[in-house]
Amino acid sequence: MRAGTFHIITFGCQMNVHDSQWLTAALEKQGYSRTAMEEAQLVIINTCSVRQKPEEKVRSALGRIKTATCGSRDVCVAICGCVAQQLGKKLFEYSPQVRLVAGTDGIAAMPQTLLELLEAPAKKLVLLDFAPAYVERPQLEIGGASAFVAIMQGCDNFCAYCIVPFTRGRQKSRQEHEILEECGRRLARGAREITLLGQNVNAWGKDNGQGSFAGLLRKIAALPGLERLHYITPHPKDMTAEDARVFGELPVLCPRLHLPLQSGSDKVLAAMRRRYSSREYLDLVETLKNARPDIALSTDIIVGFPGESEADFLATLELLRKCSFVSSFSFCYSDRPGARAALFPHKIPPALQQDRLLRFQAMQEEITEKWLAGRVGQKALVLLEGKSPRQADGQESWQGRDEYGAIVHVPVNEAFAGQMIACRIEAARRHSLVGRQEG
Ligand code: 5AD
Ligand code: SF4
Repeated sequence: MRAGTFHIITFGCQMNVHDSQWLTAALEKQGYSRTAMEEAQLVIINTCSVRQKPEEKVRSALGRIKTATCGSRDVCVAICGCVAQQLGKKLFEYSPQVRLVAGTDGIAAMPQTLLELLEAPAKKLVLLDFAPAYVERPQLEIGGASAFVAIMQGCDNFCAYCIVPFTRGRQKSRQEHEILEECGRRLARGAREITLLGQNVNAWGKDNGQGSFAGLLRKIAALPGLERLHYITPHPKDMTAEDARVFGELPVLCPRLHLPLQSGSDKVLAAMRRRYSSREYLDLVETLKNARPDIALSTDIIVGFPGESEADFLATLELLRKCSFVSSFSFCYSDRPGARAALFPHKIPPALQQDRLLRFQAMQEEITEKWLAGRVGQKALVLLEGKSPRQADGQESWQGRDEYGAIVHVPVNEAFAGQMIACRIEAARRHSLVGRQEG
């Protein structure tokens, strides 16, 4: 163990990745340096409870920490995020190394609290209260070509399968001036691309009487230096015609949208409490395609929701075909204790869920392959993020995303890292593209 060092393990969504980035910057500002788990004085587990068996994941991470640090009681473990919010003080029983449990609204206070804990080795603390409004954090100088900026936190929708309203609390929109200020600061520090984050982004402003989400997008799009704007995650029921229209209006808004469908069956959608029908979803897709004909849509799907029949599942396949999602995340339904669907009857046997998942994924693969193949010969603007995992003989390759969110590998060297380069797509692989720099 080296004094003044930390290590962070991150599970889950982009919001967690963003929280971990902020924690890293905050601890570095306090003079701490990042290191391998084996050497760290402080280990943080940033947890997610959306899909995985959350308790098992935390237990196994704690086991790995114990092995890596020989169980040293001088090592301080902090657990934060959704599982921490859910399980609270119970987590102290999992390992004597655990000394801080911080819920989703407690992250802002973690850097200060961790310093206190490191100075008082017998102390254990929790930060579990939900705040009444969006919790601002000290702004830190974070660099990088790609920036995540949170615009809201929490969710009021209570979809029947989902634990998020319980772990992240009710919806709290961030003040517009804070959002614009953070975006401006990130652009001044070299960001070219901003991804706005929230559990239900297009409901932004509804809880505290601010303007519309589309209005916010227009203001952010006008910030000097911004080349690309994205957001995750929208809810189809809150997506207005204006939200769709801005795709045709704002050149920096990328023609790419992750729009969770969950199921193509009206019966299942109603049971999930999604509050839109398959027809309404298709109409929204049409409005989006009218605004931006080349828009690339992706989605989330849950198969095997309680009571889902073969006909319901076929309706999901039908929507996949009609919407031609370029990619999707698909999951077998699993109970989240506390969420309403955990109490629903007619659970689908795991083998049948798995069968449906594979059938869905096979159809998705075909559609993805076709879309990728259709990109060959086209131009693409690629923001290079990191080295490609596969390096061709004697030729360095870097990868990044194009304006449609596809991964593109380009044979260039690291001098181009963080740069936006114009390419011509030369080949399609199974899940990515290969491009060559042009001009
Ligand atoms: N079971 C399966 N998938 C789930 N998701 C959320 N909760 C569950 C659950 N209980 C999926 C949804 C959501 C994504 C983030 O995770 O598809 O959009
Ligand atoms: Fe969960 Fe539904 Fe809220 Fe998304 S909209 S976070 S699925 S409750």
